[in-house]
Amino acid sequence: MNLLGISGSLRKQSLNTLLLQAAARVAQDEGASLQRQAIGDLPLYNGDLDGDDPPAQVKALKAAIGDADGLVIVSPEYNYGIPGVLKNALDWASRPGYQSVLAGKPTVIMSASMSIIGGARMQAHLKNVLGGTLTPVYPAPEFLLGTAHKAFDDDGRLVDEDTRKRLHRHLSGFLAWADSLAEA
Ligand SMILES: Cc1cc2nc3c(=O)[nH]c(=O)nc-3n(C[C@H](O)[C@H](O)[C@H](O)COP(=O)(O)O)c2cc1C
Repeated sequence: MNLLGISGSLRKQSLNTLLLQAAARVAQDEGASLQRQAIGDLPLYNGDLDGDDPPAQVKALKAAIGDADGLVIVSPEYNYGIPGVLKNALDWASRPGYQSVLAGKPTVIMSASMSIIGGARMQAHLKNVLGGTLTPVYPAPEFLLGTAHKAFDDDGRLVDEDTRKRLHRHLSGFLAWADSLAEA
């Protein structure tokens, strides 16, 4: 299974991007691959630019999502919701409405935060947004990584054993679920 990963944070030292990188290693252990898709260079959504010949970055985003068997979205919570950069990417990818590359694409959501809440409100918001794009979201208790700054070592590797086990469980469950959707 080929997965596409999107981080909702553009920061070089992003905890969410580190979690996505850890997810890529776990996916590999599970016999899947996970490639990261950059979203920081997308223009702001503008209907005048959208159509048969959208900007190159948008074409690349849509092609990558279209080719993937599933999406892994890992994002921080900004002001109780999803970051604008992530919403912008999803808005571009969501066209044409209800028939876009996001429609029917199995997706798993995760979040990392320095707070103990771990981005729970962002996940609720993101599920709502993905409802508008007909994107099925892995129906399992949320994968939340609170106090995330303590889970990684100086090289950015996930060293917290409990989190590693939870991540394995969550991703293997997601892969099995995505597989079952593909077979249905
Ligand atoms: C604009 C902004 C808004 C934020 N709002 C929230 C919030 O509502 N809830 C929360 O738990 N953390 C909030 N944070 C803290 C981020 O979740 C935290 O900085 C996180 O580490 C950012 O993710 P990153 O490390 O992947 O960049 C906010 C940070 C920023 C920059």
